[in-house]
Amino acid sequence: MTDASSTRQSIPLIIDCDPGIDDAVALLLAMASASLEIRGITTVAGNVSIETTSTNARCICELGQRSDLKIFPGCPRPMVRPAIVAAHVHGENGLGGIHFPSPQLPLQQRHGVDFLRDSLLQASSPITLATLGPLTNVATALIQAPQMAQNLDRIVMMGGAVGAGNVTAAAEFNCYADPHAAQVVLHTAAEYDVPVVVIPLDVTHTAIANPARRQALRNLHNPVAETVATLLDNYGLREQRDMGFSGPPLHDPCVIAYLLQPALFELESVPATIEITSPLTQGRLVIDRNRELDLPGRIELATSIDAEGFYGLLTEALGRFS
Ligand code: RIB
Ligand code: CA
Repeated sequence: MTDASSTRQSIPLIIDCDPGIDDAVALLLAMASASLEIRGITTVAGNVSIETTSTNARCICELGQRSDLKIFPGCPRPMVRPAIVAAHVHGENGLGGIHFPSPQLPLQQRHGVDFLRDSLLQASSPITLATLGPLTNVATALIQAPQMAQNLDRIVMMGGAVGAGNVTAAAEFNCYADPHAAQVVLHTAAEYDVPVVVIPLDVTHTAIANPARRQALRNLHNPVAETVATLLDNYGLREQRDMGFSGPPLHDPCVIAYLLQPALFELESVPATIEITSPLTQGRLVIDRNRELDLPGRIELATSIDAEGFYGLLTEALGRFS
């Protein structure tokens, strides 16, 4: 399987995720991209339980014909606040109620936090970390061994909202589910000068899988693309009802698209942190463009995406499956 991006130097990558429908699409996009050298996948409780996110990651790796990939189960709950799930968004099974065969691909015995920590401590060259869910695993590893950050090339995360959140008025799910972890990651990354690219709802809400884009996936006539189109048919229904979208917003695949074609995005560098105290705004991504708060963290905040280019990339990649 080759792709245009495979001519570029490969990117050593660890993906932390909570599959979840959009996580599943992101994983498939990554698997279809030869330029991404997936060192491992860690799962976290988020959209659904750790047991279910881990099973789903195994199912998606088998769907993507990548039984070589190793999946490490991580934390079953956030660092401080009680766990929340988004089964009303992703279905009780986390994959829109679609049945997948029981996966043969084994789940690794090693804990996801141990894999993250040791992989980075022992890395001979920097590793990129893509985070698609709550940041519990990453924060826990950074607390255990902050010096692992010295081998982090960058973190690219889906999370936060500059405008309205999607769980509360203020907060997006990944940051709301574990706000303390999100703050630890931003602040520790800043301490070790690790770039953190944040792709917020404001951008992912402009990457809509409208009917034409879903039909383009079906026109690929391969089981992976067909499964993705079916997953998307039943996803993001609330946003379509409440925000008038013509299809589901594809949050997590934007992270992988950034790794493959960063030129699809515009970014701004801005001081930022995560609110962890206020009951009303806990999990809020606080950005300080006027630099009034003397924040310890800063991020490369995505401000726009070329949505047509993104779907062209996704369709081309999924077309490489047979
Ligand atoms: O708010 C969207 C994010 O929360 C996505 O990562 C989705 O999978 C859920 O985890
Ligand atoms: Ca996710």
